Amino acid sequence: EKKITKEKIVILTCYDYSTAKILNESSLDALLIGDSLAMTMHGFKDTVMATLLMMELHTAAVSRGAPSKFIISDLPFLSYRQSVSRSVIAAQKLMQAGAQAIKLEGAAGNLSLIAYLVESGIPVMGHIGLTPQFIHSLGGYKVQGKTPAQAERLKQDALALEQAGCFAIVLECVPSLLAKEITASLKIATIGIGAGVDTDGQVLVIQDLLGLNLDFKPKFVNHFLDGSQLFLKAVNQYSHSVKYKEFPRYEHSYPT
Ligand code: KIV
Repeated sequence: EKKITKEKIVILTCYDYSTAKILNESSLDALLIGDSLAMTMHGFKDTVMATLLMMELHTAAVSRGAPSKFIISDLPFLSYRQSVSRSVIAAQKLMQAGAQAIKLEGAAGNLSLIAYLVESGIPVMGHIGLTPQFIHSLGGYKVQGKTPAQAERLKQDALALEQAGCFAIVLECVPSLLAKEITASLKIATIGIGAGVDTDGQVLVIQDLLGLNLDFKPKFVNHFLDGSQLFLKAVNQYSHSVKYKEFPRYEHSYPT
């Protein structure tokens, strides 16, 4: 509907209950429990390290905190590449943990599974372009679809995902013109991250939005808050006030 009315769809990652409670009050359209949580929440160097158990636990926490939001959860690395039955069980676990849709990466080899999941009542979001679960094949976090052949392949993948039944597709790190062309070619929504201004919506990692990840700032990230500095300032104020006996005060105590 929003694609037709040209209203942007806004999605943010979320991984925990307290943040989900705040985001439940926001104007966001959906929350994504991205497998990026392997990096942002668990400190691994890539999303290959995300497991189904991690995804289940974080999905359940977010769904408890944000009952009014549409919740999408990532099927982690290889959880949908072993057999149809194992893939269905993986999707079932995420849905029963509180997701209302799942996301998986890549088109090749996934199309019949997507059709099967959709027929089974599981809305599926696709993800093409820079697909971080393929980091070891891609050889790094690089813009995808720069050559005419790669661009053509991404266009075909997007159409195939739509045909298989996906309700939306994440386009990650692709040239803006290509993202615009793919968006125009589809009836379903495209959700961009590093894909320019013409996709039907945007998704961002919450640590990037809040300025909490100082390790790395890709070009497509905007810090909407200087979160690290604010956080550190509050923690140092607390530390200072305890050391200098300014906290706790009488009003923070139980006298009897
Ligand atoms: O895992 C994730 O956070 C994602 C988004 C960056 C699209 O897949």
